[in-house]
Amino acid sequence: MKIGVIGAGNIGHTIARLLIKAGHEVALSNSRGPESLKDIIDELGPQAHAETVDNAAAFGEIVLLAVPWRSPEALPHPDLVANKVVIDAMNPYGTGGSVIDLGESTSSEEVARRLPDTRLVKAFNTIWYKHLAELGDVSKPEAERRAIFIAGNDLNAKSIVSDLIRAIGFAPIDAGSLREGGRKLEPNAPLYGKELTATEAQETLTNL
Ligand SMILES: NC(=O)c1ccc[n+]([C@@H]2O[C@H](COP(=O)([O-])OP(=O)(O)OC[C@H]3O[C@@H](n4cnc5c(N)ncnc54)[C@H](OP(=O)(O)O)[C@@H]3O)[C@@H](O)[C@H]2O)c1
Repeated sequence: MKIGVIGAGNIGHTIARLLIKAGHEVALSNSRGPESLKDIIDELGPQAHAETVDNAAAFGEIVLLAVPWRSPEALPHPDLVANKVVIDAMNPYGTGGSVIDLGESTSSEEVARRLPDTRLVKAFNTIWYKHLAELGDVSKPEAERRAIFIAGNDLNAKSIVSDLIRAIGFAPIDAGSLREGGRKLEPNAPLYGKELTATEAQETLTNL
């Protein structure tokens, strides 16, 4: 598939590398423009190319958001992602590293307000990028793989993102809706940063 990656830092670059290994085509973007991504594109090879944020979003059948949550200006124009599966890997940290208090809301619900009409799936936000780079293993049975939690309201979109997660050697674990599931995946919430196999993750989720 064609994947547009918004943000080519720790998490965007790492996921792009894994998706390319799984056979996908990736357009990467950042704040400084396509020329600044030359070294990354050289490393990732011919299945990768650099774009502006809006062009990466337009390119993607699926679009990954991997920029600071606190910077809404980093997101593509909403029209370019309407009706697309959009993966929100972002966490609501302020500039000093503190978690932004969203009251009753959750960070992905706020993203859904910024980008209405997308088929939004929260995923990859609870795993450290180095673990993402190292712990995927397609040779393992799914129950023994490292879990990646997802949340969202669109079941078909969650199924598509789950297949991507399986293809890079992890196990998708559905925490529920964007609100109830998403809340469990926020920084400081019970599932954030947890090192769990799929079996352990499912048990933990059931016991919450
Ligand atoms: N690091 C992790 O292990 C991890 C794990 C899970 C989730 N996350 C979440 O993923 C997101 C990215 O984290 P990260 O660690 O990958 O950050 P990072 O290494 O600092 O990378 C951030 C990326 O966003 C781009 N960006 C920033 N402002 C932008 C703007 N206004 N327009 C376009 N692009 C912009 C940066 O581009 P420039 O370099 O050109 O400015 C850079 O490519 C955060 O929301 C974080 O909470 C991180």
